[in-house]
Order: sequence, then C-alpha cells, then structure tokens
Amino acid sequence: MNIRLTINGEPVAIDTDPDKPLLWVLREDLKLIGTKYGCGIGACGACTVHVDGLAMRSCVLPVEAVAQTSVTTIEGLADEAGRHALQSAWIANQVPQCGYCQSGMIMAAAALLKDNPRPSDDEIDAAMTNLCRCGTYPRVRRAIRAVADDA
Ligand code: FES
Ligand code: FES
Repeated sequence: MNIRLTINGEPVAIDTDPDKPLLWVLREDLKLIGTKYGCGIGACGACTVHVDGLAMRSCVLPVEAVAQTSVTTIEGLADEAGRHALQSAWIANQVPQCGYCQSGMIMAAAALLKDNPRPSDDEIDAAMTNLCRCGTYPRVRRAIRAVADDA
C-alpha cells in the first residue's frame, strides 16, 4: 500500500505494509535512525516523534494511521540556526548519559513546551513520562526549566 505523509517538512510516499509501525518505517525505510526502539509496547518513549505537533510513540503507531499527517523526528527538530533550544540546553546541562533515550526525551519536551512554554515542575513531571535507565530525570527537568525560564 502506498502511504503519503510529510516527514520533517518533505512529502514522502512509502510503499509498505499499512500495519508496519511508524518507528520501523522511519528507521528501516527512511533511514532516520535517531528515533530509537526501546520497548515496542508504548511504555518507554524512546520512539517519540511528533504527529501534527503532538508527541506520539511511533512503535505502536501503524504507518497507515499517520497517512496525510506531518511527522517530525529528532532529525527535523532543529530550527534554522541548526539546533533547537532544547538541544542547546541538553548540551549545556550535560543531560545524556548513554544517550539512548534522549531523542525521545527531547521530542517529548519539545511538544510540552510548544503547548505550555512555561510549565511548572509538576507539569514537567506529569508530561515527561519517558523512561531513562541512566536516571537522567533531574537533568532533563533542569534543561527543560532552562528553556522555559528563557521563554
Ligand atoms: S519503543 Fe516505543 S514506547 Fe518504547
Ligand atoms: S541516558 Fe541512558 S537511557 Fe537515558
């Protein structure tokens, strides 16, 4: 089946199984490997992308469900300056440890700040349900705070 959608601002047509999860279309068909596979059951958030601006877990999203939508992955998050404010804050606050969960973390944080540019700590904690085996949660919150405080 031919699925048409927009990925990182570019129109794309993919001939694939409509039930194939978006995560695997991104990684295998489009070679956008910044979006990671963690659990495959929608629990960890490593595979988070934006679908029409909303943070969604691509491992449990059949590609057919995102036909005609606009998908943004970590590769498409940067602004014209070459880096999203969160990516700069992630570096400044030395957030990543192993790094595996971090693209999903940043995508979740970007969706949060788009909806709520100045979230409270409680709102950050409620929105950031991604899992990190390295325990970077305090640094994730600090980096989000840094961007929010500049908003
Ligand atoms: S890999 Fe998608 S939520 Fe864990
Ligand atoms: S930085 Fe290692 S899993 Fe999050």
